[in-house]
Amino acid sequence: MSQQVQGVIAPGKNQPVRVETIVVPDPGPGEAVVKIQACGVCHTDLHYKQGGINDDFPFLLGHEASGIVESVGEGVSDVAPGDFVILNWRAVCGSCRACLRGRPQYCFNTHNAKQKMTLLGGTSLAGGLGGGTELSPALGIGAFAEKTLVAAGQCTKVDPAVSPAVAGLLGCGVMAGIGAAINTGNVGRGDSVAVIGCGGVGDAAVVGARLAGAAKIIAVDIDDRKLATAKTMGATHTVNSRSQDAVEAIRELTGGNGADVVIEAVGHPETYKQAFYARDLAGTVVLVGVPTPDMTLELPLLDVFGRGGALKSSWYGDCLPSRDFPMLVDLHQQGRIDLGAFVTETIALDEVEKAFERMHEGDVLRSVVEF
Ligand SMILES: NC(=O)c1ccc[n+]([C@@H]2O[C@H](COP(=O)([O-])OP(=O)(O)OC[C@H]3O[C@@H](n4cnc5c(N)ncnc54)[C@H](O)[C@@H]3O)[C@@H](O)[C@H]2O)c1
Ligand SMILES: [Zn+2]
Ligand SMILES: [Zn+2]
Repeated sequence: MSQQVQGVIAPGKNQPVRVETIVVPDPGPGEAVVKIQACGVCHTDLHYKQGGINDDFPFLLGHEASGIVESVGEGVSDVAPGDFVILNWRAVCGSCRACLRGRPQYCFNTHNAKQKMTLLGGTSLAGGLGGGTELSPALGIGAFAEKTLVAAGQCTKVDPAVSPAVAGLLGCGVMAGIGAAINTGNVGRGDSVAVIGCGGVGDAAVVGARLAGAAKIIAVDIDDRKLATAKTMGATHTVNSRSQDAVEAIRELTGGNGADVVIEAVGHPETYKQAFYARDLAGTVVLVGVPTPDMTLELPLLDVFGRGGALKSSWYGDCLPSRDFPMLVDLHQQGRIDLGAFVTETIALDEVEKAFERMHEGDVLRSVVEF
């Protein structure tokens, strides 16, 4: 058995995304079908569309989502139909060497659904794609769709009182940003933090830095509108790196030293370099922005050695969904962080392409598809 739903696919490199009918199989062993309530538009979806992640077209886009479990397959006991869940792309296996060492956030064998969702028979797309073509769900989720099939471990139960749009954002960008600060960067009370690139992910890093007790939070972007928003999220200082040298400005704001932790949330070599030189000696750089395969970086090795400290990457904010999602939902519900501020607009399923344009123009922090 299976069912047919509408979903947004990226048919080929740089082609506009479109709504198509897709076939969602009933959940097999260890799988769940989730009725999606909200799914945010993340820059990573745009990377997929542009072919910047891999070439496994066609993609079923969308991965920052919340919804209600509709049905579960054999052997699933952690979630049940009716549960309100955030979808995660880190369903840890529990048995790889990272999991066994007590570091499940680095799990090397995360779970996705085994069955494939496909294009409905009779569909025909450019490039010879037709009915029955298997879809590659973005980050193993594929939630710009009325329903999606995932591994049951990708469903993290949270308090259903939270708004679905807010909850969904924790499934990727907001978690990645907050986690880059509190988990990967290990920001502590009194630290100085700079965040380069203040989109959804960077602003979430600002929120995370504030939550962790940072004394100074410097937001850097090339767009004044983004800087104004970052300020409302908790940035104590802003730097427009189009009109000012980012490294010099950050140093000036930190007594000439540089920040204790610099979080790069753009994913470009030039901003990575800024992060590298804008941190204090023995400070930490966290790369949470995702580079494309063609990008390279050249740094004097002596500077890498001589400046000391830590150069870290942050995949998904080093989060553990079962630990971090419910905690952040609680903090939001208590009013200690305002995740609602990340939702700039809610849109319909057929407006994802337009949302990419608005993201590109810098008009939005997050557009969220509501169902
Ligand atoms: N590591 C992870 O797990 C993870 C998860 C989600 C997203 N991401 C990545 O994080 C990055 C940001 O995602 P987003 O959704 O916030 O994107 P976004 O497009 O909303 O934000 C990017 C921001 O960077 C700013 N910017 C662009 N060029 C800049 C420059 N040269 N200097 C300073 N600022 C600049 C833009 O003005 C914008 O505000 C993307 O690369 C995305 O793929 C990573
Ligand atoms: Zn594992
Ligand atoms: Zn994402």
